[in-house]
Amino acid sequence: MTIISPSILSLDFSQLNSQMDAVNASRAQWLHYDVMDGHFVPNLTFGPDILKAFRKLTDRQLDVHLMISDPRKYAPVFAQAGAQWITFHYEAMNDAQDCRALAKELRALGVKPGISIKPQTPVSVLEALWQDFDLVLVMSVEPGFGGQQFDPSALDKITVLRQWAQAAGADLRIEVDGGINAETGKLCREAGADVLVAGSYIFKNNIVEAVDSLC
Ligand code: DX5
Ligand code: ZN
Repeated sequence: MTIISPSILSLDFSQLNSQMDAVNASRAQWLHYDVMDGHFVPNLTFGPDILKAFRKLTDRQLDVHLMISDPRKYAPVFAQAGAQWITFHYEAMNDAQDCRALAKELRALGVKPGISIKPQTPVSVLEALWQDFDLVLVMSVEPGFGGQQFDPSALDKITVLRQWAQAAGADLRIEVDGGINAETGKLCREAGADVLVAGSYIFKNNIVEAVDSLC
């Protein structure tokens, strides 16, 4: 079954309560929370206190996507703030050993760790790493902004990851983020993704119907 994770980056914060009521009435099982630091990506978003507020607004699993240069410093802070899933970027880390150490630290805090790659990063960098994670997030746009066009190179990466997971008999969540709508979402599901993030497609349409069209 496909998990839908609406990205609050595109939520209309002047309509916060009504939009969250719609998310809570929808079949979305997760809520995607984009953290940007103005350094790893050229945009700024939300910190841990706002995550605590969302914890009160929904019982969906909080899916935190850290687009920050120093995930080792801040990932534990988001764990304390109520995240169930925390994904950091491969490109923000020094090496594979650092990635594994942070995954282990997050597990010890009761959080499921995820690792993400940007569109320019080959999936091969994850071959010796993915088994240390519960989730791999394939970016299908350059991280930083909502409303961009889907990059189809993500599909091959999803296919490879699903093959690795199936061959190992592993229960890996494969998430895709960027430019997801009913058409691109279907392509991703067919390639083997089981978590679809969508921001503008969900929040700029009827929220319940848009989620249904992605399931
Ligand atoms: C982009 C963020 C995405 C963003 C996706 O860097 O990671 O989660 O909200 O937005 P859409 O679905 O509009 O491409
Ligand atoms: Zn994201």
